[in-house]
Amino acid sequence: MGHVTLRTLGLAALLLYAGAAASAQAESVDLSIDAAHPGARISPDVFGQFAEHLGTGIYGGIWVGKDSPIPNVRGIRSDVVAALRALKVPNVRWPGGCFADEYHWRDGIGPAASRKSTVNTNWGGALEPNSFGTDEFMDFIDQIGSNAYLSVNVGSGSVREAAAWLEYMTAAPSSTAGQERAANGHPQPYRVKFLGLGNESWGCGGSFSPDYYVNEMRAYARLVHNFNAAQTGDLAMQRIAVGADGAKTDYLESVMKAWQEKVWAWDIEGVSLHSYTSAGWPPAHPSTHFGEDEYALLLADTLHMEGLISVHSSIMDRYDPQKKVTLAVDEWGVWLAPLPGTNAGFLVQQNSLRDALLAALNINIFARHADRVRMANIAQMQNVLQAMIMTDGGRMVLTPTYHVFQMYVPFQGANALPIGFDAGRYSYKAISLPRLDAIAARQGNGHVVLSLVNLDPTQPLTIHAHLNGLSVHAAQAQTLTAPSVDAVNTFETPTAVIVKPLASQTTGGVVTLTLPAKSVSVVELQ
Ligand code: AHR
Repeated sequence: MGHVTLRTLGLAALLLYAGAAASAQAESVDLSIDAAHPGARISPDVFGQFAEHLGTGIYGGIWVGKDSPIPNVRGIRSDVVAALRALKVPNVRWPGGCFADEYHWRDGIGPAASRKSTVNTNWGGALEPNSFGTDEFMDFIDQIGSNAYLSVNVGSGSVREAAAWLEYMTAAPSSTAGQERAANGHPQPYRVKFLGLGNESWGCGGSFSPDYYVNEMRAYARLVHNFNAAQTGDLAMQRIAVGADGAKTDYLESVMKAWQEKVWAWDIEGVSLHSYTSAGWPPAHPSTHFGEDEYALLLADTLHMEGLISVHSSIMDRYDPQKKVTLAVDEWGVWLAPLPGTNAGFLVQQNSLRDALLAALNINIFARHADRVRMANIAQMQNVLQAMIMTDGGRMVLTPTYHVFQMYVPFQGANALPIGFDAGRYSYKAISLPRLDAIAARQGNGHVVLSLVNLDPTQPLTIHAHLNGLSVHAAQAQTLTAPSVDAVNTFETPTAVIVKPLASQTTGGVVTLTLPAKSVSVVELQ
């Protein structure tokens, strides 16, 4: 195995997908980072979360009720709040998902006795007690220090119902809607940073044709007002229209065409993309007890996000070359077979080291497209799909994916930097993957932060990081790895996959460190 020397890379080449070049296996790789030419800002909103009324995502995962023996503040469990605060969660999408297009907000406000019990038709036919409604969600958002991303009901609701909901949340305390809110404990208007105009309207949200959806979307965009006087200018609410179902881009084309031809009366600020990693449908790959075959297969599948976003961006560029409209990847993550013994409608799966790498690879893709992808929401926050946190009664465990989100906090709001390297490929049977995936970004204080994903499950990789435009004096690195690709954290062994310090040397401005096999590492350079 040989040392791959630093190639002379122009800026354009540096900006190419970093893992694209293939070469022989390398045990030592030179990385060149251009700190003098910062690119687009990596929006903190790319690290958004998704919390749907699904399984125990809300009930049990967030809401335990005021009388619960589980420590809570106004019914919201305190251990989960503390864990989420550490992630600096920028926004939480709620109440769904498919649930949103059957949600009627009035069922979930007011005194407990007036809350309606309904059936969660999408997710296992579970009883929906509506104990966690608008005021509880806003309390939760406040407790974790985040922002609200609300999805209004376009499928089975009406413009009038959605408009009344926004009025309830944002109108002045002197108005009738504001007084109702005050009677429910919150005189001051809430802040609603993002508003989703429906969810998967091509599927569970109503199975509308693109043209029908666009007609509906225009009315919601025009008539559902945010009255919060504090939300003006940069703080104005952003409306996200329903976009593509993965590679099926008919909705995206229709929404963007309508936006290009729009009149003064309406606008949108974003369009969504939903894309899960499942390597086949319905999701059948196990979340535990798997080997290198499942590891390589799911990572190969997730890397399709790169091409998907490139295609979406180029479509959007045709209608919006100034990149005013955000591509919001507001549902992404790995979707695996339900854990044996669980309700299949609750979408419970374990979360392994492999899934942590998968999360990092997706975030890196979003960062490479930071000029267009300014929002993303992993599915989902607690106990559902690729969760940050799993709970069982009073117990809580942080998943490997949680640790990736915590490691990436320094990237929130930093500017992406050109990075170049040639680390060769990692191959398993017919699957060939880049051996290394990496991004670099410059924070507001001038520090540079790197993320380095060593996809090779057996070989460590030594990195020599060379910086242009910054003299490095010190580096601090940490890494997430485990003995096997399917390692998971359980309630009994919560620290099987945790972040550990990683040794590095800085000599003559070059930072050298060895990435463990199958690892995600983050390095802060000063
Ligand atoms: O995240 C689970 C479901 O996946 C959401 O409710 C829906 O929008 C998507 O199909």
